[in-house]
Amino acid sequence: MAKPLLQVALDNFTISEALESTRILAPELDIIEVGTILCLSSGSEAIEVMNTLYPDNIIVADLKIVDAGGELAGMACDKGADWVTVMCNAADATKVKAMEAAEKRGGEMQVELFGNWTYEQAETWKKLGLKQVIYHQSRDALNSGGSWGTENMTVVKKLADIGLEVSVTGGLTKEVIQLFKGIPVKSFIVGRNLRNADDPATEARAYQDEIAKYWT
Ligand code: 5RP
Repeated sequence: MAKPLLQVALDNFTISEALESTRILAPELDIIEVGTILCLSSGSEAIEVMNTLYPDNIIVADLKIVDAGGELAGMACDKGADWVTVMCNAADATKVKAMEAAEKRGGEMQVELFGNWTYEQAETWKKLGLKQVIYHQSRDALNSGGSWGTENMTVVKKLADIGLEVSVTGGLTKEVIQLFKGIPVKSFIVGRNLRNADDPATEARAYQDEIAKYWT
């Protein structure tokens, strides 16, 4: 089973704030995500800057696309995004257009599972040729007392059994990583717990050590 990748989510308001994090974190992790907040404040430029400065990292544009899939995914990939996100609730036509636009430029599209979706839909996406999904615990749910547990592992396992590559995100702490042992996770996506750590580089290494304990 492949070792999961580690991704930082740059949910910053400005590129300079984001660069303060990447300067320290980029060498310690695999994927740099231009978060939705940064996409909305300075998307194209932020993607271009990250791609230019960090050619060895995978760059994700977390655009959470709901329409105009081809145009938006194409634009992000032209600026240097490797992967781009589309909401699960978008029309399948939007997902396919985004997937085709990304793949035409050597990239991939990820379906973000937020709100309502079914396993039947996930099977359809797989048949349509979509490769990746992101299983997301919402910030609001976690703030209202939710947590990562067996129920979530069952969902991730089922999605992996359908043949989709599953990344996970939402308030992930180091302690949560072990719960995914034995499940093929594509990437762990961490925002605040990495960016706001007292020593982000040491914290990223601790996440990597934790991942290495359970996957080789
Ligand atoms: C919000 C997101 C976040 O970037 C992602 O979930 C990481 O956030 P956190 O700070 O909870 O680790 O996609 O929609």
